[in-house]
Amino acid sequence: MKNNIELAKKLICEKTLSKDEFVSLIDGRCEETEELLKSEAVRLRKEIYGNSVYIRGLIEISNICKNDCLYCGIRKSNKNCERYRLAPDEIYECCDEGYELGMRTFVLQGGEDGFYSDKIICETVKNIKNKYPDCAVTLSLGERSKESYKKLYDAGADRYLLRHETANKEHYEKLHPKEMSYENRIKCLYDLKDIGFQTGCGFMVGSPFQTTENIAEDLLFIKEFSPDMCGIGPFIPHCDTVFGDNPPGSVNLCLFLLSVIRILKPNVLLPATTALGTLHPQGREMGILSGANVVMPNLSPKSVRKKYALYDNKLCDGAESAQSIEILKKRMSDIGYEVVTDVGHIKK
Ligand code: 5AD
Repeated sequence: MKNNIELAKKLICEKTLSKDEFVSLIDGRCEETEELLKSEAVRLRKEIYGNSVYIRGLIEISNICKNDCLYCGIRKSNKNCERYRLAPDEIYECCDEGYELGMRTFVLQGGEDGFYSDKIICETVKNIKNKYPDCAVTLSLGERSKESYKKLYDAGADRYLLRHETANKEHYEKLHPKEMSYENRIKCLYDLKDIGFQTGCGFMVGSPFQTTENIAEDLLFIKEFSPDMCGIGPFIPHCDTVFGDNPPGSVNLCLFLLSVIRILKPNVLLPATTALGTLHPQGREMGILSGANVVMPNLSPKSVRKKYALYDNKLCDGAESAQSIEILKKRMSDIGYEVVTDVGHIKK
């Protein structure tokens, strides 16, 4: 087996590795390989996106969810979660505010809430796109039928985020109730791509039962699926879930994987996630400096933010909040990057 530096160089040259090689690269990582991959990741992102940081206004439209994912704070069985949903008019107000702040992508994210029929989402998307034709709408509303996805796409939605969560079926089943299936998750992702959405997958780093082999499988899945976006962040326990006492994922490993993913797919839209910012005060900056090129400030109404608690202590103010965009801009410019007012599509 090659040593770690050789594996890192091979990854840079060939833009992928075998599963065993990924496992060795990850388990054997040292400062030298971290720096090597980080500088290549940053070189690639600068070649394609310069020093621009794309921002997305994240609107958390509902924390009502029919699913019971074992790790998630808004899981159906969490009786301590105070539920809410936004009406379309409240969503439009968020968009108005975000537009003023320079956002040109709105992400409508929520639990799998039956209230949001195709009709309601389509109407909401159409209204946003009519008012702001220069903006993209991203949906992140979980698993739906292909017919439903097609309607949302035809209504004008540009992108869809659906993390695959893990590319290993056995691992998937340890994180999800039996009503959910790995096969359907993956089918949804291929349906979305087939319909024409800019499609995003992703996974948690350090989720319960995750092995290095599982991470290698995630990386190979990403290579094969070739997503337009990829969301990864550390797992963070939520006290009202089965995994409330589990340790959080590693920030260092998450940063390393951001660099690896940038190298696997150089033009991918890669966010420095809220979870990363939650676990480390400089998480977002470190994410950008590891190859990420997107941040997603919280644009939800202040009154509901604390209720959309996927995990404990989730950041929702300071530089995390859309209203504090100036703080975010300053923090990005301090590390040599520029928050831009741009729809921020993937560059092909
Ligand atoms: N820690 C970190 N991320 C989480 N998510 C859900 N629960 C947690 C948690 N406890 C992530 C999932 C989901 C996304 C919206 O948030 O990956 O797809």
